[in-house]
Amino acid sequence: MENIHPIFDRILDRNDKQGFLNQKSKVLWFTGLSGSGKSTIAAYLERKMFDAGYFIQLLDGDNIRSGINNNLGFSLEDRQENVRRIAEISKLFLNAGVICLNSFVSPTKEIRQMAKDIIGPEDFLEIYIEASLELCEERDVKGLYKKARAGEIKGFTGIDSPYEAPENPFLTINTGKHSVEESGEMLFQSILKHVQNK
Ligand code: ADX
Repeated sequence: MENIHPIFDRILDRNDKQGFLNQKSKVLWFTGLSGSGKSTIAAYLERKMFDAGYFIQLLDGDNIRSGINNNLGFSLEDRQENVRRIAEISKLFLNAGVICLNSFVSPTKEIRQMAKDIIGPEDFLEIYIEASLELCEERDVKGLYKKARAGEIKGFTGIDSPYEAPENPFLTINTGKHSVEESGEMLFQSILKHVQNK
């Protein structure tokens, strides 16, 4: 039969989208304790990359746990499901050519490995935002450490729920040693060659 829909004879793929956006899509996966500075650095980097002409989507607790994952809590099973859905969502963005900056505690190696497996190892850049528990607790931006110490929140990461630091991250940034600006600049320089459309 004659093809009456020639316009549909090739489905647009990731390469087409990346070409349109003039970038390579990647997932930058920020992991670290609550209060380590993940979302702050991700937001700084988003602005910096946007100004440099990149098209980005930021994913964090604010836009994920309040919406699509609002039925999940903080048991290890729920955290696993939280991250599984985030990884699947990121894959859709990747295929649309968009760079994702994902900022989630994602506390265990197993949970992050699952994310890496779903996203694909070549597109998954793990960024460890390092800050000691003491420092995060001292900052206590959201007042949650105080509540966790008082027993008002159970299973808080670093207090009575585990955090396993990555062994081989793409990059480690210690926010006890570097300012947000320094951290964002270092990160920007390290990731540029991975997102440039050569
Ligand atoms: S994850 O473990 O499933 O990756 P996610 O990054 O989505 O966690 O959410 C962590 C944020 O939720 C923390 O920064 C903090 O503001 C808040 N939070 C509330 N309860 C907990 C808890 N029990 N453990 C860690 N973070 C919590």
